[in-house]
Amino acid sequence: MNKLVVVGDELAKELAKKIKGKYIPVEERTFPDGEIKPKLKLPIGQRSSVGLKIKQEEKFKTSILIFQKKEKERINDYLIKFFLLSRKLKDCSKKVIGIMPYLPYSRQDKLFQEGEPLSAKYIAEVLEGNLDVFITVNMHEHRRTIKDNFSIPAYNLSIFGLAAKRFLTTKQKGEWIAVGPDKESERFVKDFIKERPIDYVIFSKQRNVKTGEVSFISPKKDFKGKKVIILDDIASSGLTLIKVAKLIKKMGAESVGFIICHGLFIEGALKKLRKLDPFLIAATNTVANPIAVYNIIDVISPFLKEQGEL
Ligand code: R5P
Repeated sequence: MNKLVVVGDELAKELAKKIKGKYIPVEERTFPDGEIKPKLKLPIGQRSSVGLKIKQEEKFKTSILIFQKKEKERINDYLIKFFLLSRKLKDCSKKVIGIMPYLPYSRQDKLFQEGEPLSAKYIAEVLEGNLDVFITVNMHEHRRTIKDNFSIPAYNLSIFGLAAKRFLTTKQKGEWIAVGPDKESERFVKDFIKERPIDYVIFSKQRNVKTGEVSFISPKKDFKGKKVIILDDIASSGLTLIKVAKLIKKMGAESVGFIICHGLFIEGALKKLRKLDPFLIAATNTVANPIAVYNIIDVISPFLKEQGEL
């Protein structure tokens, strides 16, 4: 029995190297009707051939499944691919650790309007059926925590400590303020300032559930001449960051920068953010994007070792 295997894409390959596991790549196929078929690329001798009976498949002690969401990949394809492979691994492993760097549907963590599903919880229920442990990064823990959604051991890691360490190396002088765009960002803003002790402030955000429009209540803070680093878990339409940055500039800030965990950047969001001339705009590689500078494997690999999950 092979001890430890890491299944997935380039992230899996990198993780396998760090934790001394065996990397198993995945072949992906999409049928004309949109159905997908991911397949473990097992060594020759274990593959099945059309028309032939599948040979006895290898069993693994611990399997880790990890995928980055590709830039153009539909979110539901990403989810189904993860589900199908985790179910496959459940059949051939003693223990399965699922690492989904970006956990889709986690923003629907409340019934905003009558008749809606509590998607964050329902998705967790589907995923955990095949897993022994679940790990994600900066999950949108606004109204529900990861422990409220999952009943298996589940961990929500933060990338903001690592981002702060890198931020420390920038040579820029001046007075800094870190900003969280909404109440819920306080958690990861604190992860950041723990490593980079600067002043910080948290805005209050409201979103119209019907139109998606966001508005902010400005905090009492003197931004005049300050350099402001805005931190957020997700940049999707970019609307949140754009609005808060414009407000901060209006309040006298010298310049603004952005650190984002999940850079989804839908519909030209990145271009719009760049128009604000930020001194920094950086994201992680949880989802593929052109400004992914923080590598989540640097957080996941030590965590797995410390936690004794391997
Ligand atoms: C919301 O509460 C999140 O923390 C993000 O601020 C939000 O999802 C960003 O979305 P968008 O870029 O579309 O404003």
